[in-house]
Amino acid sequence: MSFNYKTTVTRRAFVASSLAGVMSATLPFPRMAEAATRKFSLRAAPGSTRLVPEPHPDTAAWCYNGKVPGPEIRIRQGDRLQVEVMNDLAEETTVHWHGIRLPNAMDGVPHLTQGPIAPGDRFVYEFDALDAGTFWYHPHQRSFEQVGRGLYGPLIIDEANPPRVDRDVTWVLDDWRLAEDASISDDFGNAHDLSHAGRLGNTVTINGHVPETLEVASGERIRLRLINAANARIFALDFGDHAPRIIALDGQPVTPHEPRDGVVVLGPAMRVDVILDCTGKPGERAQLVDRAYRGNDFRVLDFTYAETALREATPDWPIALPASPIAEPDLSSAHRHEVTFTGGMMGMMHDGRGIWFVNGKAAQGHVLDPFLTLKRDASHILEMTNATAFDHPIHLHGHSFRVISRNGAPTPHREWQDTVLMAPRERVEIAFVADNPGDWMFHCHILEHQAAGMMGVIRVA
Ligand code: C2O
Ligand code: CU
Repeated sequence: MSFNYKTTVTRRAFVASSLAGVMSATLPFPRMAEAATRKFSLRAAPGSTRLVPEPHPDTAAWCYNGKVPGPEIRIRQGDRLQVEVMNDLAEETTVHWHGIRLPNAMDGVPHLTQGPIAPGDRFVYEFDALDAGTFWYHPHQRSFEQVGRGLYGPLIIDEANPPRVDRDVTWVLDDWRLAEDASISDDFGNAHDLSHAGRLGNTVTINGHVPETLEVASGERIRLRLINAANARIFALDFGDHAPRIIALDGQPVTPHEPRDGVVVLGPAMRVDVILDCTGKPGERAQLVDRAYRGNDFRVLDFTYAETALREATPDWPIALPASPIAEPDLSSAHRHEVTFTGGMMGMMHDGRGIWFVNGKAAQGHVLDPFLTLKRDASHILEMTNATAFDHPIHLHGHSFRVISRNGAPTPHREWQDTVLMAPRERVEIAFVADNPGDWMFHCHILEHQAAGMMGVIRVA
């Protein structure tokens, strides 16, 4: 694939004062000639939703199109996506398209999109879907509260030739802090959450509901797309005897493999696509348990097997996904950069506002001087050190990167990620070609950590 094409991307703000402000941005990726434009609209507004079953009442939440999660936006790789976002919240918002490569101006970071979308205003996001896979969308303005109150949804880009399965299922996972009356606890951004592990909740939902059971059939093959939309919870899903095989991480294909100890780990914002072969017997029941990464186990749901089997044995259809079009970094010529994360607990004491620091600085909002400038189209390795006592899912906008080592040892799958979970004191090296020009946010996706300074800008110039 050549990266020399230049495509012009037009964006429109439907804000009266900026109607004339049509501007364009260049995107260093080829546009598929026959691309179809697929149009969607999202309305962000307060609403009410049933998170927990009767006899609990509905929960007042913030919704896209009246729902939690927002509608599944599903298109084909190569399509052009156009989404008109209407803001009926009482505060500014944006929409960030997490994990998909797009032009900087469409990234949904407030100062890049001519400011956030004011209450009562609209904005049209438009870009080509270069990548296939499992992605998601969420606000990038006061995310810890806007996402925490329910603003998020799945973005699924279908491969031209996806592997054959019986069912393709999307699960958006969330973790809520609910009071007895099922209302969302109002303590967003409290000092303890900001300086410790973030906003952990007491109620796990799948696609906005506390599920009881999922009916499956013996012999059935499911492609399960897991998306962690929680502010802070790290899921560690134990599928028991089902031996899920991971085929994609953060939307990008990976050599199919079983997760370590059979447990699928997803930090906030991460996605995992698994192939789940339903190997139980008709009439059986099997539990899916969250082995809570750090904390108590939690039953997520029960798989209940239908009385009739779908087929006798597991199908032998191939499961590998087509290769990703992302440019491969050249490790021998790569520029190396050190990134160190510090802070937590004590941090509050030596800086009145920031608690978490990226290379010694705590971010205040989104308008920042870059802490790193990367030469465009060159390969880069970030040598990252988590010098804190907490886990951090570290996310880079606008690029996917290969995770090449952990604590000095090469990773077995050299997986592509856009969010890499770093354990306390862990060192992780990531490598990528900086081929998408612009100022890109780089932050912890525990949204309380992001709000308390754990964010910086990486400039690709
Ligand atoms: Cu999912 Cu900067 O975000
Ligand atoms: Cu963090």
